[in-house]
Amino acid sequence: MRTDRTQKYKLGFHLTRNNRITFLTGAGISAESGIATFRGESGLWEKVDVEKVATPEGFAENPKRAWEWYDSRRTTMKQCKPNKAHDTIAKLEKAGYDVVVITQNIDNFHRDSGSENVIELHGNIWYVRCTRGCGVWEDRTAPMPSLPPLCACGSIIRPHVVWFGEMLDESIVGAAYQRLFDTDLCVVVGTSGVVYPAAGFAEMAKANGAYVVEVNLERTPISSYADESHFGKAGEVLPVLFSEYIKSRADEKNI
Ligand code: OAD
Repeated sequence: MRTDRTQKYKLGFHLTRNNRITFLTGAGISAESGIATFRGESGLWEKVDVEKVATPEGFAENPKRAWEWYDSRRTTMKQCKPNKAHDTIAKLEKAGYDVVVITQNIDNFHRDSGSENVIELHGNIWYVRCTRGCGVWEDRTAPMPSLPPLCACGSIIRPHVVWFGEMLDESIVGAAYQRLFDTDLCVVVGTSGVVYPAAGFAEMAKANGAYVVEVNLERTPISSYADESHFGKAGEVLPVLFSEYIKSRADEKNI
């Protein structure tokens, strides 16, 4: 018997034109693009020592070693592109809904797919900054000609991402909190929900009245309080949940 996907994944929240929708995304949304997630059997943290590549101490001890890992990630990401899950979120915004994406991902795929309201909690792999403070700038060179790359001032350049043990940018977290206090629908996609502060965001939104929807391959701590959980691939679930809403709004705009 054929499975009717529209039956399998159905949004239990009736979306209206005035609703504020917030997507909270993690590594799982980019898995179908070919980017490995962090946890689980084939997760990145099983293959590489997080202390050595994603902490300020690891970078200070051996910047070349840390950069080799980021350089290989940049090279992989350059070859990949956003998938249907990113595209669905971008289309929802383009159709005229009030959509904000709060992401833990550094791959830039939300912006690449056309989302404009994106809050990047953990930075962006295509930005780098001088460790002496000359500034932050976009750099899409991959692979880098030499590692670690150096600034014009002679200091080492680092990826503009947040490492374990570092504070998140206050203004960015502030913008995320503000949105979470003022959200009708909060859709959490592809995160294991274990790294704070992001892991607490959906619960915060729920405490402020939001309807929480989770999309993941498996149960997470978020499943225990989500209003609904859809277990499946983000690139398959999100289009089914939102296509009708995107279509009806796009049709309306054409009238
Ligand atoms: P994780 O690797 O911890 O979790 C990925 C989640 O995505 C898991 O719950 C998977 O079940 C789910 N998943 C995998 N493929 C999926 C698919 N196709 N569709 C839907 N869900 C899928 O990644 P994050 O939760 O993003 O931080 O990790 C949070 C933070 O921990 C990262 O930003 C990173 C990491 O260490 C830093 O590096 C600071």
